[in-house]
Amino acid sequence: MTDYAKLAQDLDQRIAAAADLAALEAIRVEALGKTGAISELLKSLGKMSPDERRTEGPQINGLRDGVAAHIARRKEALESAELDAKLSSERVDLSLPPAPERKGRVHPTMQVLDEMIAVFADLGFSLAEGPDIEDDFHNFTALNFPPKHPAREMHDTFWLPEDPATGERKLLRTHTSPVQIRTMMQGQNKPLPAWIAQGQAPPIRVIVPGRVYRSDSDATHTPMFHQMEGLVIDRNIHMGHLKWTLDAFIRRFFESDSVVTRFRPHHFPFTEPSAEMDVQCDRSGGSIKIGEGTDFLEILGGGMVHPNVIRNCGLDPDEWQGFAFGMGVDRLGALKYGMPDLRDMFGSDTRWIQHWGFSAFQAPNTATGLS
Ligand code: PHE
Repeated sequence: MTDYAKLAQDLDQRIAAAADLAALEAIRVEALGKTGAISELLKSLGKMSPDERRTEGPQINGLRDGVAAHIARRKEALESAELDAKLSSERVDLSLPPAPERKGRVHPTMQVLDEMIAVFADLGFSLAEGPDIEDDFHNFTALNFPPKHPAREMHDTFWLPEDPATGERKLLRTHTSPVQIRTMMQGQNKPLPAWIAQGQAPPIRVIVPGRVYRSDSDATHTPMFHQMEGLVIDRNIHMGHLKWTLDAFIRRFFESDSVVTRFRPHHFPFTEPSAEMDVQCDRSGGSIKIGEGTDFLEILGGGMVHPNVIRNCGLDPDEWQGFAFGMGVDRLGALKYGMPDLRDMFGSDTRWIQHWGFSAFQAPNTATGLS
C-alpha cells in the first residue's frame, strides 16, 4: 500500500524548496503529469474493488488536490518574486546625474548659416539653392562676364575635365551668384509646378546659402568656403534698400548696434554700381575681435543687379531692378566667435570642433536669441 502521507510530505518539502518556476514545473510533471506518481495512483483506482476504491479514492483525490493547491501557491509566490527582482533590476534612479553629453558638435559654419537664415527669414527672405558643379553660362556668361574676359580668371576657378562628347568644361562654382540666374530664369521658363514657379517670378526676395570653390589658401582664404547670396528683384529698388538691409543684418547678426562697417566702391561684372563691405576688427594677439582695433576684414560684395543680367534672365530691366550681395559665411563666423585662422575650420581636427562647435540643441532663432 502506498504511504500517502509520506508521499504528500515528500512532495510538500520539494515544492517548498523549489528555487524557480522551472524546478516547480518539473515537480508538477513528476507528480501530476500524464505518467506522474499521483496520476498513476488515480489510474490504479480503476483496477480496485469497489470497497478499496471507497477508502482509497478520497485519499488519492485529497492528495492530488492538496499537491495541486500547494504547487499553485508556490507558483504565485515565485512569480511575484521574479517580478520584484525584474522591477528592481530595471529601476531608473532619477537622482543619478544625467549621462555625459555626447561628443558630436555642430560645426560653427553650419551654426552661423542657421543664424543668418534666421535673421533673413525675419526680414522676409526665402531660401533658394543651386548645384556646386556649375556650367560656364550660369557662373560667368549670364552674369555679364564678357567671353575671354580676364575677369573670368579673377576667381582662380577649379575647372573639371572637358566632356569629350560636348567639348564643354564644367567647373566648381566660384560664387553663389549663379543661383541669381537660376532663380530669375526659373520664374521665366516655369519648368516647375506653377505654385513653386510663381514664388520665383518677380518680386523675388531670396537668400542662397552654399559652398563655393577657389584655388586660394591663406589665413583668410580656404579653397572651399561658404557664401550666402542675397537677391531682391522688384520695382523701384535702389542702393538705399541694399544698404539698409545689410546694416540691419549686421546689427542683428552680431547682436550689437556698435559694429563699425564701411562701404567701398568696387567692381563686379554683374552689379552696377558695386561695393564691398568691411567690418572693423582687431587682429593683433592671435584672435579676431570685432568692433575694436584698426583692421578691416572684407565680408561681402554687393550692388545693383546689372541691367544686362536682368535682360539675360528674360526680364525687362526698365520694369525690374534689384540688388544682390554675396557674403562670406565662414568669415562672419570667425569674426563673431573670434577664430583666428579660417583654414582650421576645415582641418577636421576633433579638438578644434570640440572647442568651437555648438550643441545640437542650440538652434538659433530670433525669438529666443541667436547665440
Ligand atoms: N559673387 C561675388 C563674390 O563672390 C559677391 C557678389 C554677389 C557681389 C552679389 C555682388 C553681388 O565675390
